[in-house]
Amino acid sequence: MRKMRRKGLASMAAQTAASTTDSTVDLGPAAALSCRECGHRVPLGPVFACEECFGPLEIAYDFSSYDTEELRKRIEAGPANIWRYAPLLPVPADVADKPNINPGWTQLVKADNLARELGVTGGLYVKDDSGNPTHSFKDRVVAQALEAARAFGFTTLSCSSTGNLAGAVGAAAARAGFRSCVFIPHDLEQGKVVMAAVYGGELVGIEGNYDDVNRFCSELIGDPAGEGWGFVNVNLRPYYAEGSKTLAYEICEQLGWRLPDQLVVPIASGSQLTKIDKGLQELIKLGLVEDKPYKIFGAQAEGCSPVSVAYKAGHDVVRPQKPNTIAKSLAIGNPADGPYVLDIARRTGGAVEDVNDEQVVDAIKLLARTEGIFAETAGGVTVGVTRKLIENGLLDPALTTVVLNTGDGLKTLDAVAGTGLTATIRPNLDSFREAGLA
Ligand SMILES: Cc1ncc(COP(=O)(O)O)c(C=O)c1O
Ligand SMILES: [Zn+2]
Repeated sequence: MRKMRRKGLASMAAQTAASTTDSTVDLGPAAALSCRECGHRVPLGPVFACEECFGPLEIAYDFSSYDTEELRKRIEAGPANIWRYAPLLPVPADVADKPNINPGWTQLVKADNLARELGVTGGLYVKDDSGNPTHSFKDRVVAQALEAARAFGFTTLSCSSTGNLAGAVGAAAARAGFRSCVFIPHDLEQGKVVMAAVYGGELVGIEGNYDDVNRFCSELIGDPAGEGWGFVNVNLRPYYAEGSKTLAYEICEQLGWRLPDQLVVPIASGSQLTKIDKGLQELIKLGLVEDKPYKIFGAQAEGCSPVSVAYKAGHDVVRPQKPNTIAKSLAIGNPADGPYVLDIARRTGGAVEDVNDEQVVDAIKLLARTEGIFAETAGGVTVGVTRKLIENGLLDPALTTVVLNTGDGLKTLDAVAGTGLTATIRPNLDSFREAGLA
């Protein structure tokens, strides 16, 4: 399975490598691209697979000149968005002056009411990324990809998306004056479609699921029709993925430069989870947080649970599934980073768990009524999985735990359809009393 994944990547890499690779490009502390499998390094460019072994490329940095206390002060004096961490990201030093959607620095909510419901005594927090410009964590990754697209001279931004990414790309392209043309499964929630279309770019529905959309984009990238296009999650993926590190940075800074003990993270492609781990490791190496163990738990919906199934079976390869769940934003049946997620869950002592659609809906309502946070289905998955992990003894309620809500419930209203009026009354007190509301 890993071999199959790499073979696909290889052919795509060969095609994108036809675009320029430029070692003089200025993306701040980003020094090169490095293969996650064999460590082979290549200059920064719009490539994403290793020419030696076809493994995925990621950003390698030069942080050697940083002094811990100076860096901490610089971050704390920075803007209230992800660019406060620009010294740790593949972006130019003057990034905050460029037109971008400037996401991040979202609330870390101390969720005491939810903690009581779940029996968590060690401190429970919800990192609420619905507060981003297009109401999902995808703004973080797109903001990085936009800077890379600018550096490499692309003028069109594109992506394959389960919904949220399409909106984030549309908005970022609009702000920065790029053309955008994005691809989604044709049958997504109306909220996702409208949120992607309203920014004025082209939005194309593909008859198929996300994995079909992704395959189509891989073909397009190698065709003259896709020339000059920056696909944020394909040929710009190494840059894009780094945006998720900012979730780890923010969580630790908001905890007073402290690592949480446990994190519960949703999995679609698995990229977010792997980069949160990378971000935590960087903070430890840079001395910004004290080194101590932490556990990362992955969360999936039962109707699309390839990583959870592999985790429970003790496998280190992920068998693709055909998704069927209301958690459409997480509906990637063949997750590119699945094997890395398994490594991280096992290395940190975490786990990967899944919940069914009914549990997702219950969890959305639980979070809303306890903390006033209206999560999309992906947030229902993480909260539902947190509850299940506590019940089955895998997550320790006596430890500090951060649960991610990565998107806004307004985009997935159908999931809670039927939630509505308590009563309809005539505009007088008798009617109010009759309804039993007095
Ligand atoms: C709301 C939301 N949360 C989480 C994810 C998971 O992201 P990843 O593909 O990095 O695992 C997605 C992906 O589309 C998403 O839309
Ligand atoms: Zn390699």
